[in-house]
Amino acid sequence: MAPIAPHIRRLRLTGFRSHQGLDLACANGAVVITGANGLGKTNVLEAISMLAPGRGLRSANLEDLRFRDPQGISCDGWTVLADIEGPMGFTRAGVAYEGEGGRRVRVDGETRRVDDLAQALPQLWLTPSMDRLFVDGASGRRKFLDRFAQTLDGALARHLSAYEKAMRERNRLLQTPTTSLSPNPWLDALEDTMALEGVAIAASRLAALDALAVGLVSIPEAAFPRAEIALEGTLEAALRQSSAVDVEDGFRDRMRAARALDASAGRSLEGPHRSDLQVVYAAKNMPAKECSTGEQKALLVGLILAQAQSVAARIGDVPVLLLDEVAAHLDSHRRAALAEILTHLGGQSWITGTEMEAFSGFAKNAPVTAIQMTPSGEAVTL
Ligand SMILES: Nc1ncnc2c1ncn2[C@@H]1O[C@H](COP(=O)(O)OP(=O)(O)O)[C@@H](O)[C@H]1O
Ligand SMILES: [Mg+2]
Repeated sequence: MAPIAPHIRRLRLTGFRSHQGLDLACANGAVVITGANGLGKTNVLEAISMLAPGRGLRSANLEDLRFRDPQGISCDGWTVLADIEGPMGFTRAGVAYEGEGGRRVRVDGETRRVDDLAQALPQLWLTPSMDRLFVDGASGRRKFLDRFAQTLDGALARHLSAYEKAMRERNRLLQTPTTSLSPNPWLDALEDTMALEGVAIAASRLAALDALAVGLVSIPEAAFPRAEIALEGTLEAALRQSSAVDVEDGFRDRMRAARALDASAGRSLEGPHRSDLQVVYAAKNMPAKECSTGEQKALLVGLILAQAQSVAARIGDVPVLLLDEVAAHLDSHRRAALAEILTHLGGQSWITGTEMEAFSGFAKNAPVTAIQMTPSGEAVTL
């Protein structure tokens, strides 16, 4: 028998966005939350995403998540408590924000770092704001890949922030008129850091890309169009050909040679912060950005399912999926296929939508916890 995927059995929110006090019992499988617009369905998913590293599925500030009454008066803080059942038994995880500082994380009564939660409850999400992923700029696609890469490589977040920090400092120095471009040991040191961290980032992304490619092949093409994926980036390309040390040296040399150019551009022109994830609808050989809205959504869902599949294959745990308004652009055939694939994956998926009818296919194909949000702010389990 497959091991139990980590999943939430009970979720309690206090002072979180529209939810002053919400207490949900749920099971593994699909948790479908329905209700009219504005009743706080996405807020529930966002609360779960606060149990992951990063700023959650809306990239919000922690203080903005505090419940605000109609007079605009906010709660002091908020909490998200989750009883998680996993292969090792039960874990009680809690995240609290107390009006200042960061999130406080407790796991089974002990203070922990949010990275530890990533292990206890790996998760991936898909939201309507990602509908423009293929059309908008590269940064969204980089974040999309990096979020997935982080579930496979716990060190990536640290590499990304160390790289960003060194790059900001380099940009600032290059913008200062009194800075000597060469010799300059300070710039040398920052570029050393960028080269080291940049290559670590590129390596982590390549590993994620390869894992994703394997996952993509396992999703039935009849249901969701297969995506062909590639990474465009100088370091990523170089790493396919040469050793990490050589790529690092090359990048460091190019940054040194480009100081004057970068100074006049006002930014660092090369590096993993410029990489892009390219997605092509394989059967049509059509770049995703030129596909129809419905095709783009289906490609995205396929990518998320492939990510879930490869996280499961790599780390052994099926991630929790947060699928906000996922049914909106999918026809009934694809909704049924989604239910089937999610059941096959065997993890927990939180799915929101306005109409329960859109999920009738689910009930046939998967164990479902159906939750209806009511205008009074309560959640009724159907
Ligand atoms: N900090 C907050 N305090 C209280 N209510 C909030 C806060 N932030 C957002 N809301 C309310 O939450 C509602 C939106 O919730 P959301 O989960 O996006 O709804 P939906 O059910 O459509 O997904 C809106 O009515 C909004 O006014
Ligand atoms: Mg919503």
